[in-house]
Amino acid sequence: MRVIMLGAPGAGKGTQAKKIADQYQIPHISTGDIFRANIKNGTELGKKAKSYMDQGLLVPDELTCDLVVDRISQPDAAKGYVLDGFPRTIPQAEALTNALLARGEKIDYAVNVEVPDENIVSRMSGRRACLACGATYHIVYNTPVKEGICDVCGKELVLRDDDKPETVKKRLDVYHAQTQPLIEYYQKAGVLAEVDGTQDINVVFEDITKILGA
Ligand code: AP5
Ligand code: MG
Repeated sequence: MRVIMLGAPGAGKGTQAKKIADQYQIPHISTGDIFRANIKNGTELGKKAKSYMDQGLLVPDELTCDLVVDRISQPDAAKGYVLDGFPRTIPQAEALTNALLARGEKIDYAVNVEVPDENIVSRMSGRRACLACGATYHIVYNTPVKEGICDVCGKELVLRDDDKPETVKKRLDVYHAQTQPLIEYYQKAGVLAEVDGTQDINVVFEDITKILGA
């Protein structure tokens, strides 16, 4: 099963993608997590990506598309995957569609997690992230067992550099201008499904499993 998560920054794409990956035993592929791992390891890609991410801007398509096409060609992705944060522009969606088409494959579901902008900024300021494994928590809505420590891998949780309110505002603007058009793109492709992302995390996931099937 090949699934794409759509939604604004902070809508809960990562939170739900992790649950989907566990339930359906497919890899969770997050371009944001890949860039953050590269930044942490000081790679050339990380240096380039950071300059865009810190401003709330998108990393250029040419640094992003090949990376994802390469990742979904790995053996562990043969039975499917959940893509989180990609595609984010129409050219990225077209690159993905064409890469899949060349292999006789297609996306099965594009799940749009809907959350209004006014809920986003408060969610982001309470988010805590594990840069080691990509797990995400919230100081009110999704707390780790031990404060400040990742339940999954035991590393320290941090506030992401791009979660400052002014950067979140910019990311929302970029989302509306460049990423929201993908909703129509996947609607036309006949694979769009929408869920109300303002509900409790587990209720959102129940709605998603109804769409994806048991
Ligand atoms: P990325 O890491 O993808 O960030 P994003 O899309 O801005 O989304 P977030 O990760 O911030 O939010 P999310 O939807 O995953 O929400 P989460 O589950 O954490 O990208 C970062 C940057 O990298 C981009 O700005 C760009 O520069 C670059 N980039 C990445 N991909 C790119 C691409 N394809 N092309 C170009 N550039 C790219 O949830 C948020 C918070 O809310 C958490 O604290 C969570 O616990 C909480 N929460 C989640 N669900 C609920 C709920 N139902 N109720 C209450 N709280 C909830
Ligand atoms: Mg995320």
